[in-house]
Amino acid sequence: MHPAGRGPVEAADGVVVRPGRRSRPGQLTVACRMPCRAKSHPMRAARFHDMEEEMTPIEVLFIGGTGEISAACSQRAVELGMNLHVLNRGRASLRPLPPEVKLLTADVRDPEATRAAIGGREFDAVVDFVAFTPEHVQADIDVFSGRTGQYVFIGSASAYQTPLARLPITESTPLRNPVWPYSQAKIACEELLVRAYRETAFPATIVRPSHTYDRTQVPYDTGWTMIDRRRSRSPAVPARSSTGTTRTRRAGGSTRAWTS
Ligand SMILES: NC(=O)c1ccc[n+]([C@@H]2O[C@H](COP(=O)([O-])OP(=O)(O)OC[C@H]3O[C@@H](n4cnc5c(N)ncnc54)[C@H](OP(=O)(O)O)[C@@H]3O)[C@@H](O)[C@H]2O)c1
Repeated sequence: MHPAGRGPVEAADGVVVRPGRRSRPGQLTVACRMPCRAKSHPMRAARFHDMEEEMTPIEVLFIGGTGEISAACSQRAVELGMNLHVLNRGRASLRPLPPEVKLLTADVRDPEATRAAIGGREFDAVVDFVAFTPEHVQADIDVFSGRTGQYVFIGSASAYQTPLARLPITESTPLRNPVWPYSQAKIACEELLVRAYRETAFPATIVRPSHTYDRTQVPYDTGWTMIDRRRSRSPAVPARSSTGTTRTRRAGGSTRAWTS
């Protein structure tokens, strides 16, 4: 149950039933992992035939939304029928948003502007793609506590133990990166979120992407060498350095997991 009191009241086969924000008194709104417009929606199996159904798409906010990773997620979220809001400064134009997206314009580093852009909206999930320090995350906690069913922090796989003591990397791999301040700050963000969950039940989820590319960017400093190797179907060379082991992902390839 999340702090706004709209937590799940019944669950079956991945379907989450919660009292809806927009439901009439005595009526349940069904919100689910699978977007409700989908033709294959499990609710169509009439499992809840004795319940008056009002199917509404889930309300999602992406902070960012037009970045290397987040643009692919925006596309996927819309395809899945989510009601997607995107908050950014309206500067980036390299990756246009789908027309269904509701654009909210603000600099997320300005909490008042962010609050003004969001207005009275509440969300089933808020995903911040541009939080890099505990101060950024604390600002999100302040703005979104009680206004979102889930807060998703985009961390980094570079937070994993460096150098690695053993492979494969799992969720039990310790977080420690003595060499990269970016990763150290991401770890501090995670620690803040774990504390917020323990102390106030702030509903946080942490995602740690590995090195990601999309059609706008060549992965790694090796530049065209990497492209040449892929085109010629040469064996992939794992990127190994004094800071650890990493792997590349195409932005679109990660979205299926992130939007489920
Ligand atoms: N790419 C990788 O290989 C990789 C690997 C691991 C983790 N990550 C993590 O993934 C996240 C980056 O995701 P991404 O690639 O989608 O982002 P990105 O390329 O950094 O894109 C930035 C997005 O955020 C918006 N934005 C930037 N500053 C803003 C501000 N102050 N207020 C509001 N909006 C702002 C930009 O739009 P406007 O300019 O129009 O505001 C744009 O939509 C980061 O948290 C990064 O640490 C990335």
